[in-house]
Amino acid sequence: MRDPKTILITGASSGIGEALAVEYAKHDVFLALSGRDAERLEAIRIRCRNKGAMLDARVIDVTDAAAMAAWIAEIEAQRPIDLVIANAGVSAGTGGGPESEAQARNVRTINVEGVMNTVLPAVEAMLARESKRTDGKRGQIAIMSSLASFRGFPGAPTYCASKAAVRIYGEAMRGELHHRGIEVNVICPGYIRTPLTARNKFPMPMLMDADRAARKIKRALRRNRGRIAFPLPMYFLVRLIAGLPVRLTDPMLRILPKKDAAAGK
Ligand SMILES: NC(=O)c1ccc[n+]([C@@H]2O[C@H](COP(=O)([O-])OP(=O)(O)OC[C@H]3O[C@@H](n4cnc5c(N)ncnc54)[C@H](OP(=O)(O)O)[C@@H]3O)[C@@H](O)[C@H]2O)c1
Repeated sequence: MRDPKTILITGASSGIGEALAVEYAKHDVFLALSGRDAERLEAIRIRCRNKGAMLDARVIDVTDAAAMAAWIAEIEAQRPIDLVIANAGVSAGTGGGPESEAQARNVRTINVEGVMNTVLPAVEAMLARESKRTDGKRGQIAIMSSLASFRGFPGAPTYCASKAAVRIYGEAMRGELHHRGIEVNVICPGYIRTPLTARNKFPMPMLMDADRAARKIKRALRRNRGRIAFPLPMYFLVRLIAGLPVRLTDPMLRILPKKDAAAGK
């Protein structure tokens, strides 16, 4: 969407979500931001307000479906939401041994259910209203996946699976909702410098700053790119790994470093 005026971002209290909030903040923009950490969220609210944006910052857990639906309906009642970025997510892996059931379920619940709890009420709200925009669009929904969605990496089984689930969901929803005036985009970043990756104890090729990633994402959303995957060399690499026969890639993937088990918050 060219010039979104009302933007809702989950997981805006840190990392990529925070960088996106700051990137979109300007005088005629209303930002609805959520996260779990009240103190960090408040600091970002003030930063965005100082850039001239109007703000609604809420402490809401994305796994709380009722709270998410109520918040989204409340914002929508004030002003039509142009852009929703379902960004909140956690990461954890097999660095400490096989994933525990608690870890696997936590990652799955936040990264998949949390996205659904954001997307479904947003779609409902957008479909319920007539577009007031000259381009006839009702709204845009961006889903945060990852380059880790293209192949199951042994270092983070549930994380990869969760990101694959939301990528596929978003790609399908893009086709389904296009003719109803809602654009859906899937964001697949490589390694971005945030608290989520700060715990990784291994080298992260082409690690990118969150501000730069946010600028790339904003530009690509403006152009309504269906799949926003970057950095390109890393995207081609994972596509190559995913395209090669499993018997060739398995031995290599088995020796890659693993994400810390405690990385999920
Ligand atoms: N960094 C990367 O390299 C990378 C690469 C590809 C994809 N991603 C994805 O990008 C998204 C943002 O990650 P990040 O790197 O910016 O990590 P981050 O700095 O740890 O930020 C994660 C954000 O999600 C929020 N969050 C987590 N669980 C939540 C929950 N249950 N309810 C509400 N909010 C919750 C956090 O809120 P609190 O801090 O307030 O708890 C925080 O604002 C994630 O979906 C991640 O999987 C990251």
